[in-house]
Amino acid sequence: MVIGGGGREHALVWKLRQSARVEKIWCAPGNGGIADEAECVAIEAGDVAGLVAFAEKMRPDLTVVGPELPLVNGIADAFAERGWKIVAPRRQAAQLEGSKIFSKEFLLRQRIPTARMYGAFDSAAEAYAALAGVKWPLVLKADGLCAGKGVVVAKDEEEAREFIARSMEQGELGVGGRRVLLEEGLDGEELSFIILTDGERYAPLVPTRDHKRVFEGNQGPNTGGMGAYSSDELLPERLRERILGEIVEPTLKGLASEGIPYQGFLYVGLMLTKDGPRVLEFNCRLGDPEAQAIVARMDFDLAEVLKDVADARLEAGKLKWAAGASVCVVLASGGYPGRFETGKRIEGLVTGVRNEAGVGGRTGVCVFHAGTKRLADGSVVTTGGRVLGVTAAGESLAGALESAYKAAGRIRFEGMHYRKDIGMASSRSAVGD
Ligand SMILES: Nc1ncnc2c1ncn2[C@@H]1O[C@H](COP(=O)(O)OP(=O)(O)O)[C@@H](O)[C@H]1O
Ligand SMILES: [Mg+2]
Repeated sequence: MVIGGGGREHALVWKLRQSARVEKIWCAPGNGGIADEAECVAIEAGDVAGLVAFAEKMRPDLTVVGPELPLVNGIADAFAERGWKIVAPRRQAAQLEGSKIFSKEFLLRQRIPTARMYGAFDSAAEAYAALAGVKWPLVLKADGLCAGKGVVVAKDEEEAREFIARSMEQGELGVGGRRVLLEEGLDGEELSFIILTDGERYAPLVPTRDHKRVFEGNQGPNTGGMGAYSSDELLPERLRERILGEIVEPTLKGLASEGIPYQGFLYVGLMLTKDGPRVLEFNCRLGDPEAQAIVARMDFDLAEVLKDVADARLEAGKLKWAAGASVCVVLASGGYPGRFETGKRIEGLVTGVRNEAGVGGRTGVCVFHAGTKRLADGSVVTTGGRVLGVTAAGESLAGALESAYKAAGRIRFEGMHYRKDIGMASSRSAVGD
């Protein structure tokens, strides 16, 4: 059973289905593309009680969790109590993502490199007062889950006060915004470093970089992610060693020493500063759309490896990766990330484009669905802001980009827009991407 209904989950389902060990896949709630490859079940991803009741009936041999909400709601604990296999960290470990204050305090306790903290506040008055003693730019972070809207890099006091007012006084971010963390602004390039761990052993996944801003050249507002690419060149060997030694290993050791076993995917968001890598945040899951680019380079049986993780016997050597590169270009609804309409009919999703053979090997294109629904007449319509993730692998980044953009050019729906510069030099240097 795969939990979630976005592009990341479509990529996981698609890859799991290639395993000879997998007979049947359920996906809750799934989407219009996942419905072609798995049985979609109408249970929301955050509904732990509903998922437990379903698993009680169907008894999946293994469950894999995509998004953060079920983690923070304790799905791993509920499954573990019943002896069911699941790849997901427990509720307490998921606080690394669920509470930015918890995560910062953990990093400081374990002396893992991260931006300096000025303070964590649950009263707006104290947060305003703290602004007198900070340097600019200042980073303000809402403590809880805010769907990517909980962080602001403020260049001056006015911007900082505005965020505190919105988050702590007007409650615009919900409960997640009642407490706020203030930290030092760092300068550098960002990198996502994702590992898979069974609590003791770990395996790094291939490096990826996502593109958060809606427009080319990293302009416009933040989104859930307009695209991602993976290439070994993103991460020189020496830097990789440094990240493993200074960040990943101390994190896993620190968690174990504090009695917080961690099992599943761990996403480390890094700023590569001139003084070395610094942790910006943890996510307790694969990123979306990073997952699509990662899955496109997997040259191993994902079901087997995930089962190993659930059984606490991960063998890092089993994770073999296709050389070269991969890319995922997100096709979004008109207006996204602001207001957008749904229900637009998608044209050009011919079978040959949707699932050309080859991704996971060296070349080929695969269109993963994110915000779609299939109607009774077989047509597919949009249901979300991010609609499709056109994903391609290639022997080089240029080759992967060419395949992905060619395939994207065949797809149409009213208002559709996408960035034309995913993985290109112009999109690489801006901070905040
Ligand atoms: N200390 C920091 N210095 C500079 N930029 C930061 C810092 N912390 C976060 N950011 C920027 O804000 C973005 C979002 O912050 P992050 O901690 O990843 O939270 P979330 O992904 O939950 O919104 C980062 O990708 C980065 O661009
Ligand atoms: Mg982030």
